[in-house]
Amino acid sequence: MPATALLRHGGSAVNDHEVLPLLDQIGHVVSEAITRARPELAGSDPVVRRSDRADFQSNAALALARRLRVQPADLAADLVADLAPALDPARGPVAAVERSGPGFLNITLAEHAVWAQVAARLASPRLGVGTPERGRRTVIDYSAPNIAKEMHVGHLRTTVIGDSLARVLDLLGAEVVRQNHLGDWGTQFGMLIQYLDEHPEISWRQADLAGDVSAVSALDQLYRSARAAFDADPAFADRSRARVVALQSGEPATLARWAEIVAESEKAFRAVYDRLGVLLTPEDSVGESSYNPVLAATASELVDAGIAVDSAGALVIFSEEVTGPEGAPVPLMLRKRDGGYGYDTTDLATIRHRLRDLKAHRLLYVTDARQALHFRLVFEAARRAGWLTDDAEATHVAYGTVLDRDGRPFRTRAGGAVRLTDLLDAAVARARAVVADRDHGLSPAELDQIAERAGIGAVKYADLSTSRVRDYVFDLDRMVSFTGNTGVYLQYAHTRIRSILRRAGDSHPEVDPELPMEREERALALALDGFGATLIEVSRTLEPHRLCGYLYDLARAFTAFYEVCPVLGSAEPVRGNRLALCQLTARTLSRGLGLLGIAAPERM
Ligand code: ARG
Repeated sequence: MPATALLRHGGSAVNDHEVLPLLDQIGHVVSEAITRARPELAGSDPVVRRSDRADFQSNAALALARRLRVQPADLAADLVADLAPALDPARGPVAAVERSGPGFLNITLAEHAVWAQVAARLASPRLGVGTPERGRRTVIDYSAPNIAKEMHVGHLRTTVIGDSLARVLDLLGAEVVRQNHLGDWGTQFGMLIQYLDEHPEISWRQADLAGDVSAVSALDQLYRSARAAFDADPAFADRSRARVVALQSGEPATLARWAEIVAESEKAFRAVYDRLGVLLTPEDSVGESSYNPVLAATASELVDAGIAVDSAGALVIFSEEVTGPEGAPVPLMLRKRDGGYGYDTTDLATIRHRLRDLKAHRLLYVTDARQALHFRLVFEAARRAGWLTDDAEATHVAYGTVLDRDGRPFRTRAGGAVRLTDLLDAAVARARAVVADRDHGLSPAELDQIAERAGIGAVKYADLSTSRVRDYVFDLDRMVSFTGNTGVYLQYAHTRIRSILRRAGDSHPEVDPELPMEREERALALALDGFGATLIEVSRTLEPHRLCGYLYDLARAFTAFYEVCPVLGSAEPVRGNRLALCQLTARTLSRGLGLLGIAAPERM
């Protein structure tokens, strides 16, 4: 294959030309063979995957034989024959093809093609990642903590998963719109505002608090006190209800106090976001309250469409797809009997807004799996209303619960939700001990910095590396371990490679494609080749743990390579080829960790 064929023309801009991964090159080669063998099958998926038997395997014959009513083995034999032209070593990346089993094709690459891929990638900033999501506007609803309440371990999950998906989709070319659907509205604010007004002596604004107490934790406490007063004192309860009316009708003093509570809470969220290193900015905050002006219109549109109906004075939408016990219809609450709108209506408004005004092609809602029914009903209603059409899709990106070591939902000893800041502090402290134990030459300042990155990275990685829908056990000792599939292991692997590269003078290595290849060099090069395909898998499944698994395998492939292939101890041209593999591994690890929102430090 001529060198220019390695470049994919991803767009008109010159820097959009991206190195075509070997996986895709082989896909093209097999596609061409399919077209030659059976023109009627042109355009079919070549079903090429990495394989342990050869370098790649194609399952196309198995997949397609049924359509033609032929034996897969016969079709595979034809494909082998039609792949023959690709075997010309001067032209193609394929060195050998062999039929195996019931109709698999085992494909072995030419060594020069593998080295050529390494060389081409070295010169490309995108590491073989294309832009298949280009032009697709994706709204990601994530984080969404509640005003005047502490962020807890559940908010960790939505925040880190949503953020990682935002990064991956963005790299793949999607137009990502982040939406932080803050819980900033509801009758509870009446109670809190009334309580604050009646107790002006209590400090709760960030500026008036000691450094380690956040406004949101003060407000969280005060809300509990307000709640207690509400339950104990009917007169206070009446004054609180009047405050709710004042808030909803936009009475200026009440509204101002509410805005202040929101702003003070956001300061605390911002501090957590900064610490976690997530992308969310103040502009991404589009809280529940921002939908207030359109709730009535949203409801009346659903009435006009004949979907929303009266049920004992309330306005509801009965599902046509979901039924409750004994066939009872399951409702979505549009307007309560007292005329109030709630969570259901607001989410109907989000979907209407994101499709109509933001013109999204894809809507992602990253929330707890326990909200599955809510989103199912909301999406169904949006489809029936004609808002959600075949041109767009809406997905509830559900995630499981964080458990303690006994397998129960993670809680404090008192049974309350665990504050996210406490968790992060604990992880950083644990990481500090582990890092200090390994490296005694670090100054306290260096140690602090490394511990913060390792500890935060460990928590994020532990969350992202478990299959999203599964529950997982929050186990700090495992998270900060230098071995196993952990963030610390990957960060450390990256620092080790960076140190090799620094010792080599951080030069630009020359790759000689005619050199023979060791088995471990080949395995590493092929692992590197899979980066772009992994990201596409993440975008398809919305599962960041696939990227974690990939990076872990890559780090292990590097270790296996480094054990048998000396780098700094080798002479040119071998050294150049090996340094190129080191450099690509370091860049891929750092880029991959970056997509998980995890720092890849130079030293730890
Ligand atoms: N504020 C909610 C909570 O803390 C999550 C909101 C999720 N987003 C949405 N559009 N419903 O549980």
